[in-house]
Amino acid sequence: MNLSLDRDYWSARYKHNQTGWDIGEASTPIKQFLDQVKDKSLKILIPGAGNAHEAAYAYNLGFKNVFILDFATLPLDNFKRSYPSFPSDQLCCEDFFEHEGSYDLILEQTFFCALDPSLRSKYAKKMSSLLENDGVLAGVLFNRNFTHEGPPFGGSKEEYLRYFEPYFDIDIMETCYNSIPPRQDSELFIRMLRV
Ligand SMILES: C[S@@+](CC[C@H](N)C(=O)[O-])C[C@H]1O[C@@H](n2cnc3c(N)ncnc32)[C@H](O)[C@@H]1O
Repeated sequence: MNLSLDRDYWSARYKHNQTGWDIGEASTPIKQFLDQVKDKSLKILIPGAGNAHEAAYAYNLGFKNVFILDFATLPLDNFKRSYPSFPSDQLCCEDFFEHEGSYDLILEQTFFCALDPSLRSKYAKKMSSLLENDGVLAGVLFNRNFTHEGPPFGGSKEEYLRYFEPYFDIDIMETCYNSIPPRQDSELFIRMLRV
């Protein structure tokens, strides 16, 4: 892959409104997952959050310990303007791989597929290092390949298990039953626990 998927690349995508991944609200799988989580004190990280619709949804549900991370400033500035009461020290403008912290729950929504596939194993290891013991990584991963060059980059359950099994107990990695219509049958819902 020749394209450098760095901060400048993603910042330009936001600047030129080339944000086809952004569904304008929290995704149904994440919404329905969060609706079932009773403990509102959980410390939650949403990496590669972009416009962070999932964070807004969680915050409005009563999760106040939600941290948003993205290395592009534009979406974070937009979020700040839209949600002025959201604590600004919970907005992290930083490279995911350099972030330090400890979370109970990390939510994945079109972040994994945005990274160069050569980073997948590093992503799994970093995610596990950011979770408390028994902390949970949950969300969606594409379960398809794309004909055009990514991002997004696709993949399969078989491939993903290779990255995650060394660091996680895989509780769920199954075809998602509540994807948004354009992603129907092309996502896996994941819920895995740090070992
Ligand atoms: C495809 S977008 C998804 C945004 C959001 N999750 C959504 O679904 O709308 C990928 C996001 O990951 C961010 N990103 C990519 N690599 C990153 C890295 N190494 N550290 C932090 N953010 C990163 C980009 O800036 C971009 O906002």
